[in-house]
Amino acid sequence: MQKIIITGGAGFIGSHVVRRFVKNYPDYTIINVDKLTYAGNLANLTDIEDEPNYRFVKGDIVDIAFINQLFADEQPDAIIHLAAESHVDRSIVSPLEFVMTNVVGTVNLLNAARENWKGRYDQTRFYHISTDEVYGTLGDTGMFTEETAYDPHSPYSASKASSDHFVRAYQDTYGLNTVLSNCSNNYGSYHFPEKLIPLAINNIKQSKPVPVYGKGENIRDWLWVEDHARAIDVIFHKAKAGSTYNIGGHNEWKNIDLINLLCAILDKKLNRPAGESARLITFVTDRAGHDLRYAIDATKLKNDLGWVPGITFEEGLEKTVDWYLANEEWLENVTSGHYQQYYNEQYANR
Ligand code: NAD
Ligand code: DAU
Repeated sequence: MQKIIITGGAGFIGSHVVRRFVKNYPDYTIINVDKLTYAGNLANLTDIEDEPNYRFVKGDIVDIAFINQLFADEQPDAIIHLAAESHVDRSIVSPLEFVMTNVVGTVNLLNAARENWKGRYDQTRFYHISTDEVYGTLGDTGMFTEETAYDPHSPYSASKASSDHFVRAYQDTYGLNTVLSNCSNNYGSYHFPEKLIPLAINNIKQSKPVPVYGKGENIRDWLWVEDHARAIDVIFHKAKAGSTYNIGGHNEWKNIDLINLLCAILDKKLNRPAGESARLITFVTDRAGHDLRYAIDATKLKNDLGWVPGITFEEGLEKTVDWYLANEEWLENVTSGHYQQYYNEQYANR
């Protein structure tokens, strides 16, 4: 029997990880710890919220007293740490919030794990979820491997790189059992519509301008979020202490090509004449410090642990578009900020 704290479980990727663990491991107790920032939404988890092996605890990982009490109350065996400020554009506006949650919050959890798991580091695990953005940017060729030197350019990626260094430092200095993975861009259901794919779907649907930064030539390597959750499951259970894995879909797309593809898919789904949605594409001022290209080499994960992506981009994008078209209320609540209401109605008085 294992008790696992999953931080950030009300967010995009975290909700998929929570769902997977709750459904696949009925003998585990899964405790979702989340502050419910603008990005945290318990409505992402309505299908599993009443499962007997699931609990939600509202709290801020920056708050040391809260974290210490959480460890004292719950005595977890493992942490899968996803809580973070995750949006690059927001980090350019408010870098300190990213330092607080992504760096200080991670160190708070590491300290609590170090203290509470003393004498049983071999039976516990701290799994830190990170990003390919720590590696910086690629030119026209090459891919990020686990050996690529860190070279972050945005306040977001600098904060994630810093947290990665702390995780490794706690493994090397104190012998804490840590694992770490760096993943490329995820897409799929429950993705907050400030990020490119859900923002574009939402805007195209509403016939609003679709903002494309610069000339749309930046390249991202897209992975179906449920494939990421499955990779996290495999790494959590099978990786050696102290190891790092890159996770990616081998699926590079220039932003403008991706947006044109989404426009074509939505023209069909919304019965619009071919080319109508593409007229919404609007080139806007580029993101400051915009990394040109990301591409992940996930060979180590395939060779060591047998993970490969499960579905094609065409399938995943189709499912994603269908999900957003079928979940208008979710989208409406998220974009209007009303989703916090769900917590108040369902949880605040429990
Ligand atoms: P998200 O923004 O959708 O969710 C983040 C969650 O963390 C939210 O539920 C939020 O309420 C919670 N949170 C934020 N600050 C907190 C705090 N101080 N205390 C407790 N909870 C807090 O993010 P996401 O896209 O799901 O990303 C999850 C993790 O995966 C992050 O660590 C991110 O760096 C990493 N990652 C994301 C991607 C991606 O494409 N989205 C790719 C690779 C890695
Ligand atoms: O690579 C992994 C990272 O992917 C994660 O660590 C981050 O948490 C996640 O937010 C994501 O970062 P990106 O900056 O790559 O994602 P975003 O969706 O913000 O942007 C994708 C690309 O699209 C990027 O080149 C910027 C561009 N873009 C983005 C937005 C929001 C636009 O052209 N227009 C937009 O409106």
